Amino acid sequence: MKAYFRDEVLPMPQGSTTFHESEEHLKPSTRDMHRALVSLMEELEAVDWYQQRMDATENDDLRSILRHNRDEEQEHAAMVLEWIRRHDAGWERQLRDYLFKEGSIVAREGAAEQGNGSGERVNGASIGSLRARR
Ligand SMILES: [Fe+2]
Repeated sequence: MKAYFRDEVLPMPQGSTTFHESEEHLKPSTRDMHRALVSLMEELEAVDWYQQRMDATENDDLRSILRHNRDEEQEHAAMVLEWIRRHDAGWERQLRDYLFKEGSIVAREGAAEQGNGSGERVNGASIGSLRARR
C-alpha cells in the first residue's frame, strides 16, 4: 500500500504526519480528525502495551508504575474520543447508541436498525427516546 505526504509517495503510514491521500485534497477538518483518530489509536496501543508489561513483570514497584501509566493512557484515550464525538455526527450517534447501556450489545444494534426511531424498546430503553436526545 502507498500513502502520500506532501505529494511524496511513502510506504504505509506509521504516524500522525501521514495521509492516505494527497494532503492538499483534504479538508482542514479531515486533517484534524486524522490527527485525533491516530492519537486515539496510539493511546489504545499504549494501554495494551502497559497492560501486557504489568502481567509480565515480577517486580511490584514496576507493576505499580505501569498500572499508573496504563490508567493515564486510558484518560488520554477518553479525552481524544470525546473530542472526536464532538466533531463527528456519526461518532456522536454511535456512541450515544452504545455507551453506558446495559444488556445485549448486539440486540441493541438490531433494534436500532429495525426501529429507526419508531420507539421500539431495547432493554427497557426506547430507541426513539434515545434518538430524540440528539
Ligand atoms: Fe497518552
